[in-house]
Amino acid sequence: MIECEGLVKIYKTDDLEVVALQGLNLSVQDGELMAIIGNSGSGKSTLLNILGGLDRPSAGSVKVGPWDLLQVTDDQLVKYKRDTVGFIWQNNARNLLPYLSALENVEMPMMLSGKVDRPYAKQLLDWVGLKERMHNKLHQLSGGEQQRVAIAISLSNRPQMLLADEPTGSVDSRTSDLIMDIFRRLNRELGLTIVIVTHDLSLAGKVDRVVAIRDGLTSTEFLRRNPNLDDESAFGAGGLQEVHEAYAVVDRAGRLQVPKEYLSALGISNKASMEFDGERIIITKPKPLEGEQA
Ligand SMILES: Nc1ncnc2c1ncn2[C@@H]1O[C@H](COP(=O)(O)OP(=O)(O)OP(=O)(O)O)[C@@H](O)[C@H]1O
Ligand SMILES: [Mg+2]
Repeated sequence: MIECEGLVKIYKTDDLEVVALQGLNLSVQDGELMAIIGNSGSGKSTLLNILGGLDRPSAGSVKVGPWDLLQVTDDQLVKYKRDTVGFIWQNNARNLLPYLSALENVEMPMMLSGKVDRPYAKQLLDWVGLKERMHNKLHQLSGGEQQRVAIAISLSNRPQMLLADEPTGSVDSRTSDLIMDIFRRLNRELGLTIVIVTHDLSLAGKVDRVVAIRDGLTSTEFLRRNPNLDDESAFGAGGLQEVHEAYAVVDRAGRLQVPKEYLSALGISNKASMEFDGERIIITKPKPLEGEQA
């Protein structure tokens, strides 16, 4: 469904350039439910905005289904956003219109695309557990309820892919579980491809695959140890370490990113020695050259 290769995004502001993504690789299968984690400023929202067609990549390749997001025209991009993607923003105020009811909020994007399907809008609100509150204005709903309205809105165009940026960022853990359950049902029952950006590791423990971004590059991939354990019991408070196996990501050119902590622990700055003993690759600090200070 998603194929990014060497994806680069550079933001230019006045005379400053920020390289937010510096050659990122990522593949996501059709029907996958996965999470992206990473520190603040690592490029998560940048990636999601590009995948959602809200922002343009600077270089590299990024394909979603039949769409080449580097090549598309502005008109095609509008169609792509309307037909293919559902988006839940990091700040849900961007999704919602406070002076309208929950139902009107879900119908708004349908109105913009020319066809309001009220029964479907109601069904979506029922789906996210807001059947009883659909005629309430947004400001009469709690933060967690508003976030669920945002999920219903993101589905109003029947997208193939859902992109959620910190969907549980400002709700308590019970609501966060509820939201996660909604995602899992959408994934299973509608076959929706879902990419969730989060810094919540317990949430990341509830999906099959987690990709960590570090400095604008995918660095580590966490895969579920036992993918067959798919029932509720497998989704305890376990979190990332307990549930998943971690792998360093190796790109096509054979590059892999070594965590900064490892390098600084060994005092490796810009050069390392690498040895292959037939089974393992061993990275060490280079020995000082003859006559050089250690
Ligand atoms: N519109 C912009 N103009 C200039 N720089 C930007 C812009 N948007 C993001 N950046 C920069 O790009 C980098 C990546 O930002 P991004 O928003 O993708 O991070 P993030 O991983 O989503 O962080 P957070 O977890 O805090 O949401 C940061 O250094 C940020 O300052
Ligand atoms: Mg962000």
